[in-house]
Parts: sequence; C-alpha cells; structure tokens
Amino acid sequence: MSYLKVKPGKLFEVEIDSIASDKSISHRSAIFSLLSNKPSKVINYLEAEDTLNTLSIVEQLGATITRKGSVIIITPPKKIQEPANVLDCGNSGTAIRLFMGFLSSREGFFVLHGDKYLASRPMRRVADPLRKIGAHIDGRVKGNLAPISVRGAKLEGFDYKSPIASAQVKSAMILAALHADTPSVYSEPHLSRDHSERMLRGMGAEVIDDGKKIKIIPNIAPLEPLEITVPADPSSGFFFAVATAITPGAKIVLKNISLNPTRVEAYEVLKKMGAEIEFIEKESQYEPIGDIIVGHRELKAVSVEKNIAWLIDELPALSIAFACAKGKSTVKNAHELRVKESDRIASVVNNLEKCGIKTTEFEDGYTVDGGELQSAVIDSFGDHRIAMSFAIAGLKCGMHIEDIECIQTSFPNFVTLLEGITEVSYGD
Ligand code: S3P
Repeated sequence: MSYLKVKPGKLFEVEIDSIASDKSISHRSAIFSLLSNKPSKVINYLEAEDTLNTLSIVEQLGATITRKGSVIIITPPKKIQEPANVLDCGNSGTAIRLFMGFLSSREGFFVLHGDKYLASRPMRRVADPLRKIGAHIDGRVKGNLAPISVRGAKLEGFDYKSPIASAQVKSAMILAALHADTPSVYSEPHLSRDHSERMLRGMGAEVIDDGKKIKIIPNIAPLEPLEITVPADPSSGFFFAVATAITPGAKIVLKNISLNPTRVEAYEVLKKMGAEIEFIEKESQYEPIGDIIVGHRELKAVSVEKNIAWLIDELPALSIAFACAKGKSTVKNAHELRVKESDRIASVVNNLEKCGIKTTEFEDGYTVDGGELQSAVIDSFGDHRIAMSFAIAGLKCGMHIEDIECIQTSFPNFVTLLEGITEVSYGD
C-alpha cells in the first residue's frame, strides 16, 4: 500500500481499545530481557516493523523467543552471541542507539545498520560519550552514521552531562553504565522520557534518580526478569485525539494508554488550546496506565517552547490542530525535530503550505497561522508520523498521502482505526 486517500469526516463518538502498543516500552522490554538470566514475559508487545526488528536482533544475540497469542516469552542466552550478520534496526533510532550502549561492553563484534532514513541520522551523540569510557565504536563520516560497528570492550564509569534531553542517549548510557567497572552519574538539561529508569528499577537495578542526576551502580548479578503488559502508545493515540479535537461535536475514549507524565504533554497542550481532555488513571505497572477522554471544542492558538522533549513525537499531529485553531501558533526550542525520522520542521511546514496554511520556518521551530485546510497531495518523506498526521488533516477537507508504507513501523492498524471514523481508500 503506497498511497492513502482520506475523505472528509463526519461527527463520531467512539471508544478505541486497540491503539498500537507503546513503541518505546516494547523496544526496552526486548532489550532489557537480555539483562536477566531468567525468561521475561511481555504481553501486548508492539507487532510493528521497528519493534519486530528489535526482537529479531535480540534473537540473533542468542535469546529464544516463544509466542502464545499476545504473550511473548524471551529467554536470554547465558552469554551474548556474536551474530554472523549485520543487525538491522530498520527505521528505529531507539533500537540502534540502545543497542550501541548495550553491546559496547559485550564480548564480540557487532554491526548495526538500518534503512536509508536511519542511516542519515546522527549517532555521535551516543558514540562519543561511549568512546570516552572505552567503547570501540566506528561508523561512516567520522563514526557518526550507520553502519555502526561495535567491538565490545571494558568500560569505565562516567560522570556525563548530556547537552540534549534525549531518552535514547540516556538509555544507551545507562545500559553501558550497568556493565561498567565503577558507578556512573548521568544528567540531562530536562527530563526526557523515563521508561528505562522505571523498568530497570523494577528489575532490581540500582538506577537512583535524585531529580537532577541519575546514579547508576553496575549490576554484579543478573537482574530479575521483566513481567510486563505493554500499555497503548500515547503518541499513537494522539492522532485520534487531534482527529476528535478538530471535528465539531466529536468525542473519543482512548483505552489503556500509558499516562507517564513525560509522554502526555501533547494532550496537555491540546487542553490548553481549548479541547476537552480527561485522564482516568486505572492502574500502575512500572508507570501509570488509564483512559484518555477527548472532546471537541473550538481551538485557539498556543505557543510551545517548554518541555519540548515531552512532546517531540506529537508535534507533527499537534501542528494539524494548530492549522485548525484561531490565531498563530508557535513552536520554539525544537531543533531536535530536524533529526527525527525526517526533518520534521521542513516536512510539517512544506506539507501545511501545500494545504493552503501560512507558516514560517526557523532553525529551531515554526509558526502556523490557523485557517482553512485544503485538500492536497502530501509527501510523507518516509516518516510515519507525517503520514498519519496529514491523514488526520484529511478529516477536514479530504487528503491524498503518498508513501505511506512507513506507517507500518509504529502503527500497523492505523488505517483500520481511521476507517472506523471516516471513509478511506488506498492502493499501490
Ligand atoms: C524515544 C525517544 C525519543 C523519541 C523516539 C523514541 C525512546 O527520541 O523521539 O520516538 O524510545 O527513547 P530522543 O529521546 O532521542 O529525542
């Protein structure tokens, strides 16, 4: 399926209990299972391209994987195996960066690669601090681009102040620290998503967070296995939250979503814009989980310049809400958007302009003048979140999105769920 046509939507009132499972937690469940010597049990693992690649890498490193319905049992090997082939991370920055941290202390030689989009994303943000503590990492363009080679080495503990709030960098460094000679300290300019800290602590690791820095004590003994039901992904749910916020009279209940505070900031912004948003916490497993209720209201423009790391994945979808709001919305301090699955500042601005929406672009952000969205032919730039955001914009005016294969990387049932609220057609 390479194109998707979306017809303008009608009023809807639905409950969705099949938003794709959380991508960040799924990657971590697979990788962290290698830190134990007992089988981990993962329920509702995300069956999408990115996370299936990660599971396959875990298998190539020696783990045994058995599946029964929605339950996956990952039995770790006694010792990480040196794989015969290149480890394919597909489109996933999380996979390649976390594996760099994990493998840098394991005996053997490993080559990590990915698709053409991943191969153009910066890896020195992880490779440089890892090299400083003894890792042997190389890659194209002075060790910055995949393919990335890792030869396992003895690592020293570190005191590292990351210049960026990135959960991928943080998680890679924590994984390295758990296998270093001495304790380590990690700090970042703002808190990035904290799934790694929560899950590793749940497995018995000493990852101590005092709110300013994280102290990591190397684990001498293997960690306890994971037993986890992966909640639905708030960033995937957010496409349907925006769909509701821009459709007069619409209402939606998104079930069993991770309500981790570092992941629901975009819903808070949508609430600030005027949408009705209610969080109903129901349980806690490593992190809070519950339902999110969203209702349509007239939207007003907003300025977003704080907590960017907490809404980095949702800014493309939020931009569709900006386009439907009254007034000019502004995004600042979001330079990180330029190094995601596509340059998301350019992809959002370019496609919104095609839809007749006035924008201005600057190095670390953009403005969007709310107006009347018009139907257009959209280029996804191979980026799943751009494809899905503009599919949602189609509810207003109809839309034709090209190159939508990328949706398979994170949300394979997106189109099926979209069909539940509007008419769509697709083909090659
Ligand atoms: C992720 C962290 C974020 C996010 C990505 C998933 C993770 O990247 O954009 O989609 O699972 O750690 P950065 O932390 O590098 O910004």
